[in-house]
Amino acid sequence: MSGRLRIAITKGRLLEQSMALFERAGLDCAPVRDPGRRLVHSLPNYPLDAVLAKAPDVITYVEHGVCDLGIVGKDTILEHGHAFYEVLDLNFGACRFALAVKEGFDFYGGYKTRRVATKYPNVTRAFFEQKGMDVSVIKIEGSVELAPLLDLADGIVDIVETGATLKANGLEPVETVARVSARLIVNTASMKLYKEQIVDFIEKCQRGLEQTV
Ligand code: PRP
Repeated sequence: MSGRLRIAITKGRLLEQSMALFERAGLDCAPVRDPGRRLVHSLPNYPLDAVLAKAPDVITYVEHGVCDLGIVGKDTILEHGHAFYEVLDLNFGACRFALAVKEGFDFYGGYKTRRVATKYPNVTRAFFEQKGMDVSVIKIEGSVELAPLLDLADGIVDIVETGATLKANGLEPVETVARVSARLIVNTASMKLYKEQIVDFIEKCQRGLEQTV
C-alpha cells in the first residue's frame, strides 16, 4: 500500500448510500459519482481508493488482502465468507432473508421433503439444519420467485425489501431467516499493518452515521 487505503464497494443499491455516508463524513466522492467505465477511483481529499465490484467479489478482494476494506451486505457475508473483521453495521440496505411460499401454502404441514429454491444455498441449508428439518435446496441465479410459480419448489429463501416482488407474484413470506444490512469489513492483516489509518476511516464513518440520526 502506498499510503492509501483501498476499499471495495458493492455496485448497485449500496453504492449510492455508501457515497452519501462518505460525503457526510467529509470525503469528496465526485470521481465515484461520475464513474464512466472506470472501476477504480481515487478520492481527492482523503487517502482512499474506491474499487467498484459485485458483492461476492468485494469479499474475495478483502479476504485476499488486495483491498483493505469493503462495503457489502450481510446477506453476502452470511452466504460467502467470514475471514475478515466486520467492524460496522452501516444501517442502510436494510432488508431481510425470508422464507416465502405461494399464498396459503402450508410449508410445514405434511411429510414430504420440501424443495426450497434460492440464490443463497449456504444460508438456506444452515437455517433448516438448525431446525433439524431435511429440505432439498435448489440453486437459482436470479428471479427466484419463478421457482414456486413453475412448481420447481415449494418455497424460496430470498431477500425481501418492500415485499412488492413477492406480492406481485402471488407469494407471501412465512418466516424471517435473518435481518440484513450493509457492513463495513476489514482485512485482518491490513487492520494490524495500517491500524491508525483504518481506525481514522472507521471513526469518520461512525461520525457520518451519527449525522443520520
Ligand atoms: C431482490 C430479491 C427480490 C427483490 C426483493 O432482487 O431477490 O427479487 O429484490 O425486493 P422487494 O421486496 O422490494 O420487492 P434483485 O432486484 O436484486 O434482482 P435479482 O432477483 O435478479 O437478484
